[in-house]
Amino acid sequence: MAQPTEPQHIGVFCSGGDSPGMNACVRAVVRTAYNYGTEVTGFLGGYQGIVEGKYRSLSSSDVSNIIQLGGTILGSGRSKDFQTEAGRARAADVLKELAISHLVCIGGDGSYAGARQFMLEYPYLHILGCPGTIDNDLAGTDFTIGYDTAINTAIGAIDKIRDTANSHGRLFVVEVMGRDAGLIALRAGIASGAEGVLIPESTTDLEALLNLLERGWKREKRSIIILVAEGDESGGAFAVSKLLQERFPDYDTKVSILGHIQRGGSPTCMDRVLASRLGSEAVEGLIMGKSGLALGIWHKDIVYIPFAEAIKHNREINPYLLGLVEKLSG
Ligand code: F6P
Repeated sequence: MAQPTEPQHIGVFCSGGDSPGMNACVRAVVRTAYNYGTEVTGFLGGYQGIVEGKYRSLSSSDVSNIIQLGGTILGSGRSKDFQTEAGRARAADVLKELAISHLVCIGGDGSYAGARQFMLEYPYLHILGCPGTIDNDLAGTDFTIGYDTAINTAIGAIDKIRDTANSHGRLFVVEVMGRDAGLIALRAGIASGAEGVLIPESTTDLEALLNLLERGWKREKRSIIILVAEGDESGGAFAVSKLLQERFPDYDTKVSILGHIQRGGSPTCMDRVLASRLGSEAVEGLIMGKSGLALGIWHKDIVYIPFAEAIKHNREINPYLLGLVEKLSG
């Protein structure tokens, strides 16, 4: 069996859509590596930074006072070049020049897929992944870094919408992020008392939803909020609003797209702690010889699963939680 090779030099980068807590994770990687006397280089702008050789060396003091910052000091992105064989070959050359064969990738499913492909082509690379995405759509982890902040940002905004909706007696269709996943919509929907939640993981029974709204309308409910995940099959908030306007012409219906505010802001305590645990563990995992794996938190413990498993999009939505939205909607 191959013996673990203790890394002298680790690379770290953030990839894909940014998420609050990425900085806390970078800090944990750097500070943990520092304890082992391991050098850390941060690649700028995700995989593109590796392809183009854009990086900066990260000392312990370089990551001072970043734990509370949203976004990422390293920048993030989705690299088109890295999706090509030639781009990955350039990235491998850059890493060779820097004598880096150990990497921590902080990102979501696309970033993990990239890491997996890179390791297949360059088997001497050792890569571990920390789940950085607001979508919480990776398997093998209860929570991803940034999800808790994003849902808190969403419910802060929805509460404000509720105030004005109540004042004016309006129906709001609010769209939240989640191209392939409805977990932001579902959790934010329960937490904000939304009357309906539409998510890509379940086909919405529009007739049932319309009946529910009718009931509320008859009871002279002051306001109604329907949350739609951007990836829902209904086509998004404007499409749902059009449908509702046709059926309830008397309702004053408005649309609000929360968009990228959900990706920014100072991370919550939960995201900071999660990011710190996972970033630190990733360095220790590399030192112990682990590779090709995504880290996660599973029932409070840190676990590792293969990249291929993490990106399967097989997370199940708890039907009880979906039912709860309806049960509590009044
Ligand atoms: O980070 C994940 C995510 O927020 C998705 O929910 C969303 O569809 C996507 O990113 C949008 O990303 P971008 O604005 O970078 O295209």
